[in-house]
Amino acid sequence: MQTILSVENLSKVYASGFRALTDINLNIHRGEIFALLGPNGAGKTTLISIICGIVNASEGSVRVAGHDIVADFRKARSLIGLVPQELTTDAFETVWGTVSFSRGLFGKPANPAYVERVLRDLSLWEKRNNKILTLSGGMKRRVLIAKALAHEPQVLFLDEPTAGVDVELRRDMWNLVRGLKANGVTIILTTHYIDEAEEMADRIGVINAGRIMLVEHKDALMRKLGRKQLTLQLDAPLSAIPAALAGWRLELSNGGAELTYTYDAENERNDIIALLKSLSEAGIGFTDLKTSQSSLEDIFVSLVSKDPTAALQPASRATSHPDSQPTAPSVEENGNKQVTSR
Ligand SMILES: Nc1ncnc2c1ncn2[C@@H]1O[C@H](COP(=O)(O)OP(=O)(O)OP(=O)(O)O)[C@@H](O)[C@H]1O
Ligand SMILES: [Mg+2]
Repeated sequence: MQTILSVENLSKVYASGFRALTDINLNIHRGEIFALLGPNGAGKTTLISIICGIVNASEGSVRVAGHDIVADFRKARSLIGLVPQELTTDAFETVWGTVSFSRGLFGKPANPAYVERVLRDLSLWEKRNNKILTLSGGMKRRVLIAKALAHEPQVLFLDEPTAGVDVELRRDMWNLVRGLKANGVTIILTTHYIDEAEEMADRIGVINAGRIMLVEHKDALMRKLGRKQLTLQLDAPLSAIPAALAGWRLELSNGGAELTYTYDAENERNDIIALLKSLSEAGIGFTDLKTSQSSLEDIFVSLVSKDPTAALQPASRATSHPDSQPTAPSVEENGNKQVTSR
């Protein structure tokens, strides 16, 4: 896998003395979609701003396709496009003018056909002669995206591109991102809508309090840290879990009529067969069963929670009864990536 962006031992202490980033190491692969997730103030924008040359690092280095962002900043910058979190646009310029100007800034020759395609892709073509101050908020955001794409960057940063935008723009955004990826563009995005990361990203990085907590392929992450639940509707309520089943992670709910088993997504099959066998041996029958699975959001909340006992329980996709309270695994608070069971 070819590395297009490499961040080494990066730290940032702002002039105020506030330490926003501590020893960040990160390699981004060419052509991937990488989602950087973290709570407010985690350091996402600071990291992106350093890579894009807007903020200076205190320590460490960043290379884009081998070009150091300080020693070789012109080349490094020309490879990068940034859609910033904050809306900042030249209000009196036209859409066409500002996007074309952005392209020129990077020394790229004029290419009206390319600019037209970008504006059409972003549904801005009708507004190309409008002054930016006459656009709606969502349209201004589209202009920022068009500006970031104007010089055909190889690496595109999207810092919360869908915050506060309507459903249609969100869908357009993700179609655009898919199209860019298909053309070989590497995409690094931050979002607080974790379902978006779950749908779009190849890899996930979690940052909290200025430190990278983990970087993982999305599927591997969900397999490793995701939990599943099997809920059985019992044919007769139980007052307690029988001693013969004490070795299983089981919970009774709904007045003893429902039995919930929480398990790792990784070794599910054998476990469930063995559990059903044990239930049958204990003379416990059931009339219905359903399974549910933790989402990336559940995993994320558990990882960044300050409460080490925060539940990693399946919630958003749960089909189980709301009363059921599974045994919750917890994450160690010291940044250790392990998930442990209570
Ligand atoms: N110019 C600055 N001077 C001092 N502290 C700053 C400055 N800019 C950011 N910070 C602090 O650095 C920390 C990280 O901020 P940053 O904007 O990188 O967070 P973020 O992860 O992007 O958060 P959000 O999800 O809210 O956008 C915050 O505590 C913030 O207050
Ligand atoms: Mg931010």
